Amino acid sequence: MKRLALVGVGRIGTHHARTIAEEVKGVELAVLADPMAPHLDELASELGVPTTLRDPFLIAQDESIDAVVITAPAANHVDLIEAFAAAKKHIFTEKPIAITVADAKASVAAAREAGVLFQVGFNRRYAESWARAKQLVDAGAVGSVQRVHSITRDPGPWPGDPAKVAPGTIFNETLIHDFDTINWLNDGAEPVEVYAIADALVAPQAKGTGFFDSAVTVIRYSNGAMATAEASFSAMYGYDLRGEVFGSAGAVTMGDLTNTAARLYDSTGGHADTSGTDTSRFHEAYRIEFQTFADLLNGQDVDYPDADAGIRAQVVAAAAIRSVAEGRPVRIAEVDE
Ligand SMILES: NC(=O)c1ccc[n+]([C@@H]2O[C@H](COP(=O)([O-])OP(=O)(O)OC[C@H]3O[C@@H](n4cnc5c(N)ncnc54)[C@H](O)[C@@H]3O)[C@@H](O)[C@H]2O)c1
Repeated sequence: MKRLALVGVGRIGTHHARTIAEEVKGVELAVLADPMAPHLDELASELGVPTTLRDPFLIAQDESIDAVVITAPAANHVDLIEAFAAAKKHIFTEKPIAITVADAKASVAAAREAGVLFQVGFNRRYAESWARAKQLVDAGAVGSVQRVHSITRDPGPWPGDPAKVAPGTIFNETLIHDFDTINWLNDGAEPVEVYAIADALVAPQAKGTGFFDSAVTVIRYSNGAMATAEASFSAMYGYDLRGEVFGSAGAVTMGDLTNTAARLYDSTGGHADTSGTDTSRFHEAYRIEFQTFADLLNGQDVDYPDADAGIRAQVVAAAAIRSVAEGRPVRIAEVDE
């Protein structure tokens, strides 16, 4: 039984801790660490996790820990990854690996030097329709890939405060999922050039401050395929995640606006429930991604989003951010330092 520590017990870390402790086989959640989460001890006792730490770096000194799941804010990932890799802990990091390409590459270099496993939290790959689309595309069902489209619209109304959102968040934290799945579905090709536009349309009072809640990205690939990825922080009808791969022989679509196949028809028309957030819509995908990490730790040969996938998505995000700043298409080579 491999022993895991989880670092960063915030919104997603709390959900992941529960999933790992209650549903993932072959690993034991042994430590929860967070410098300030108020519910740290309460969660540990609920899940039967024996140790809590306010200083996450102490995990590096615990020889009984095999791997660390990092769910701290993205800006903290690089320091944590470097410290745990140096202590020979295998790494699962939430996306993005880091905020900059340079930090992402430094993190990956530290893990490679230590010879530890490195999985990135690109859970959308494990969502049922994306996994099935990948099988179909790889089997040649749509022929050669000509177009990939990806949509991420978070459920509205957006409750956030533009002043508290780090620059680049819509690309680094939201669209990074789309960039990964597009790269993955267009396997064997490399992103070459990126053009992006972004604006504050959900929170127009923040226009001109560098805050973006809406973005569209166009990506050109080495095999000629063209891709789009778009995001909004606020879809008033629910959580809207969709994708499509179009090729020389057909097309496959992924995602569904609704949570259910049930439809209510009444005097105002037809209705379906579109509510939900990542932790409800993707719970099963999260479970599979952590079962994959557990299987990897236990020596099984499994497919997973590795360090290269994390860097490939990160360079697309960096190119998109530069494209918005400079108002021009940016070649991947310009940001892939
Ligand atoms: N894959 C997904 O679907 C998904 C969904 C949400 C968030 N995320 C990613 O997960 C990460 C965390 O996001 P969140 O929404 O849970 O954030 P959050 O702010 O809710 O939680 C972060 C937690 O980390 C703790 N923390 C702060 N500094 C730390 C440090 N130096 N070391 C350890 N812990 C520290 C905070 O106290 C907090 O409890 C981000 O990288 C985000 O992009 C991924």
